[in-house]
Amino acid sequence: MTQNGPSRRLFLKLAALLGAGAAVRPDTLLARGTPSGRTVNTFNGLRAEGPRPLSIASANGLGATQRAVERMRAGEDTLNAVIAGVNIVENDPEDMTVGYGGLPNEDGIVELDSCVMHGPTMRGAGVAALRNIKNPSLVAKTVMERTDHVLLVGEGALRFARAHGFREENLLTDAAREEWLRWKENLSAKDDWLPPHTSEDRDIGALHEFEMQREAEMERPTGTINCLGVNEAGEVSGVTTTSGLAFKIPGRVGDSPILGAGLYVDNAVGAAGSTGRGEANLQSLASFLIVERMRQGDAPTDACLFACRRIAEQTKMKRLLDEQGRPAFNVNFYALNLRGEHGAASIWSGRTYAVNDGGESRLLDTAYLYERP
Ligand code: GLY
Repeated sequence: MTQNGPSRRLFLKLAALLGAGAAVRPDTLLARGTPSGRTVNTFNGLRAEGPRPLSIASANGLGATQRAVERMRAGEDTLNAVIAGVNIVENDPEDMTVGYGGLPNEDGIVELDSCVMHGPTMRGAGVAALRNIKNPSLVAKTVMERTDHVLLVGEGALRFARAHGFREENLLTDAAREEWLRWKENLSAKDDWLPPHTSEDRDIGALHEFEMQREAEMERPTGTINCLGVNEAGEVSGVTTTSGLAFKIPGRVGDSPILGAGLYVDNAVGAAGSTGRGEANLQSLASFLIVERMRQGDAPTDACLFACRRIAEQTKMKRLLDEQGRPAFNVNFYALNLRGEHGAASIWSGRTYAVNDGGESRLLDTAYLYERP
């Protein structure tokens, strides 16, 4: 729950957050041969600005980024490396927003979403609303490698996983079940069902007081792990995995398993991923947007801030806005490029992201649009 826990950081300075150097136009990307014959991705013919291998992740990814960099250093493929990283969190019952121990849906059943993208081959795949399998990231990778499809959901995804030997288990821990019971016993305006209304009606539902919405956000995490990696050769991959919005309507799918929304990788540019309110990101496909902004020359942090601004501009429904017309929810974006530059941004202040560029993993503050009251 670290990912979406209440914030203690109230005063962040944007300038201090820019983990990225001067932007360049990657449309002049060059591919250079190495003495070993391996192709090295470069921007404008420049070698890495930041150290590579590099891995970044959401704030719950300290261990994931460490493991990803260790694996890339040992010569492992970038996708295998980042998946090995997030497997730590998927297997951890203490993280109630991902994998085993994740908070369940409205019916008390854990449903997981994940997607992966492999830059060198520009392939990707996802699984959504997957039950009983604690490593949806590995199932997504298997969909990528063993089918001609890009997205499998629900029962079909489970049958596919079974066919490939994934072990089924009960993912609901006692701690998660007790959280679910507490939520169920206190049902209120925090559920997801809305009364009938027209498509013009922006006023539907009670105007959520911002404090109440923040409380709801804390109680209903949309925590997730996104992990991105670039190796010494400039090859990029990424993975996003989650149990999604806690207590969601069964079958609800967030942004995490959707290529372009919860994750996007382009081996000619870099990678981006997200955590936070998936519904907002699904309507803006922000990971794709961020990679495209980096392609046009944005530094990673600037591209992430651009996506936050886009979501803020596109949020029109009153129930999703605070009294000043700002989004009453948070979305966080993470991005890196081939040069080993990285950054992250959130709609609201107080968030961090994990970085490993060879030593100990560390947390850096994300840039943000609005300071939390
Ligand atoms: N971003 C995770 C979700 O909304 O499911």
